[in-house]
Amino acid sequence: MDETRSFKHVQYLWDDATAASFKGDEVALLIYRSNLLGADLRLTNYGGGNTSCKIQMPDPLTGNETEVMYVKGSGGDLGTLKKNGLSVLYMDRLNGLKKRYRGIEHEDEMVELFNHCIFDLQSKVPSIDTALHAFLPFRHIDHLHPDAAIAVAAAKDGKRITEEIFNGTLGWVEWQRPGFDLGLKLKACLDAHPGIRGIMLGSHGLFSWGDTSYQSYVNTLEIIEQCADYIEKNTGKSRPVFGGMKINSLSPEERKEKATALMPLLRGYVSTQMPMIGHFSDSTAVLEFINSRDLEKLAPMGTSCPDHFLRTKISPLILPLSTNDELKDIPTLQQKLNSAFDAYRIMYKEYYERYKHAGSPPMRDPNPVVMLYPGVGMFTFAKDKATARIAAEFYGNAIQVMKGAEAISSYTSLPRQEAFDIEYWLLEEAKLQRMPRGRPLTGRVALITGSAGGIGKAIARKMAEEGAVVILNDNDKGRLEIASREFGQQFGKDAFESGLLDVTEPASIQKIFQQAVLAFGGVDILVNCAGISISKSLEEHTESDWDKLYDVLVKGQFLMTQKAVGIMRKQNIGADIINIVSKNALVSGPNNAAYGSAKAAQLHLSRLNAAELGNDHIRVNVVNPDAVIHDSKIWAGEWAAGRAKAYGITVEELPAYYAKRTLLNEMILPEDVANACFAFVGGLLNKSTGNVLNVDGGVAAAFVR
Ligand SMILES: NC(=O)c1ccc[n+]([C@@H]2O[C@H](COP(=O)([O-])OP(=O)(O)OC[C@H]3O[C@@H](n4cnc5c(N)ncnc54)[C@H](O)[C@@H]3O)[C@@H](O)[C@H]2O)c1
Ligand SMILES: [Zn+2]
Repeated sequence: MDETRSFKHVQYLWDDATAASFKGDEVALLIYRSNLLGADLRLTNYGGGNTSCKIQMPDPLTGNETEVMYVKGSGGDLGTLKKNGLSVLYMDRLNGLKKRYRGIEHEDEMVELFNHCIFDLQSKVPSIDTALHAFLPFRHIDHLHPDAAIAVAAAKDGKRITEEIFNGTLGWVEWQRPGFDLGLKLKACLDAHPGIRGIMLGSHGLFSWGDTSYQSYVNTLEIIEQCADYIEKNTGKSRPVFGGMKINSLSPEERKEKATALMPLLRGYVSTQMPMIGHFSDSTAVLEFINSRDLEKLAPMGTSCPDHFLRTKISPLILPLSTNDELKDIPTLQQKLNSAFDAYRIMYKEYYERYKHAGSPPMRDPNPVVMLYPGVGMFTFAKDKATARIAAEFYGNAIQVMKGAEAISSYTSLPRQEAFDIEYWLLEEAKLQRMPRGRPLTGRVALITGSAGGIGKAIARKMAEEGAVVILNDNDKGRLEIASREFGQQFGKDAFESGLLDVTEPASIQKIFQQAVLAFGGVDILVNCAGISISKSLEEHTESDWDKLYDVLVKGQFLMTQKAVGIMRKQNIGADIINIVSKNALVSGPNNAAYGSAKAAQLHLSRLNAAELGNDHIRVNVVNPDAVIHDSKIWAGEWAAGRAKAYGITVEELPAYYAKRTLLNEMILPEDVANACFAFVGGLLNKSTGNVLNVDGGVAAAFVR
């Protein structure tokens, strides 16, 4: 072993001590190697590629040793592959399938037969690529989609270049859709060129192998490194990268500003079939491509590797906008975007109509996934944040492929019919159908003010559980950190953003909405929940008490609503505002002049907003909690003492006192209030606005008349 190998373009991550700890367990070593390969996005895109090993195992049916293949199963990602992500199959049965094979027009039926070859009953469903690993006689095989290798594979004269780089030690197989037949072609290539160390798959990726996990790993890295070296030597040699820059990027701040102004509009355009979540990226690599002279030539050609266009659609939409466009004149902007989106949808429909077969699945969403704004950045939209982010990653891979291929030759994309056959492949459709259905709030963005607090956090959690992405915020830094940590553990990083917010400060409001828009593309649900409370007698109330309450509760609700509505109107897909008011808006009690009247103002402001925003399909509703003592900072302070004093009881007696006061004799929990909010936005009350929902265990005095 050569411990000193140094790689420039790929990461050498193999650690001998870790590998030794597996004590020769070939399956553990396969998983280890897979995780190392999957850790570097330049080696393979998310979910792309697969690895295998073939070993002898005792057959549970006969007790005899038999050859078994472990191979990454359908779905999953190499970087996080575990044992349960592997398919385990009898080799003799897989080889036996060659006798059942009826020819390329019937190859899809072989996928079903792989299930009959399963050795381990815990096996993952075998993937379409199973045959590619089965028919090559090597113990360890890696199949990856490395940018550098695909660049060679997608170059016009990729075959000749492969010859040149590897001196005939790497085979070449022309593009063909993965399947049983391609497995046979790989074997034929090996038979024709014994002694090769791998095979380049035209327009697709790389196959490479070794006798041990380590040898396979190093062989794979070396091949990719050599491709990358060759590309690097030739980059900018005959002509500048992507033909040279056509325009300059705006500054990072200006790019963010433009993106913030534009994303809600784009979100509206792409959400015609279902609400979509956005992602913005303006990395140097993206800007190098979208600012270039070759953008108009290369982008419409579409991507090459099947994985790339399955995630990014057949081609991106280049937005008809320049860095000089102000983006403030919405009607003019909309005119431009209308025709651009219409043209894209027509292009997609024509592509579908032209290449479809008799049994093709119906046309899918004709909206673009990737949108490019020269000088500013790239927008991707998908059904959830992870998918949108991954689409951006994939287009980043595609850009590297185009760059490499153009440096060494000229880039070629997959023929449209081939692309269509992959996109609308029945096996691919079956995979989509197997995906879990979305939840009620999938694709929606919810911002709940004061969501580090008792009720606010419960609302945010409920929304996230129902599929929304949420923006956690508060002016209490410590509490916000706790909430963020909890959400990270429960929902993962793609499900939320968090930021400090003071609902009384326009600059702070501006900032949180910018964060929401850049992270997710817009806002659909605003819940005004931030609050404070002061309970004092009339004569004890100070002017500053009064101002504080009115600032946070009334002005806060007003400013947040105003800003949110600006975004919601741009999206033009309907939206919800829920204001957490209080029983105190309806019932008058002692020692409550400022808080109670501010709550009443919040209530009436909600109705006024409902009256004004109906035309935009923005619903405004109110939830009135009462006596939610659990986890409430409001109740932790002087308020509790004040209320107890007002009722002539002790603070400890309050929860029971409040429960008893209700018709249902119930204590109210933050989750009860959260459920009420969900009721308004979950889909069943879409035709309600200006309503009030009390969540108070039943308080007759608070009945709405
Ligand atoms: N708890 C109850 O019994 C009850 C009853 C009726 C109404 N409410 C209302 O429900 C809402 C939530 O109350 P809670 O019981 O969860 O209290 P809480 O104090 O636990 O939560 C309120 C959150 O708002 C935050 N906040 C305060 N000022 C802010 C500002 N300027 N900007 C941003 N965030 C700010 C606080 O830091 C806190 O985390 C309030 O509007 C309250 O008036 C509560
Ligand atoms: Zn592949």
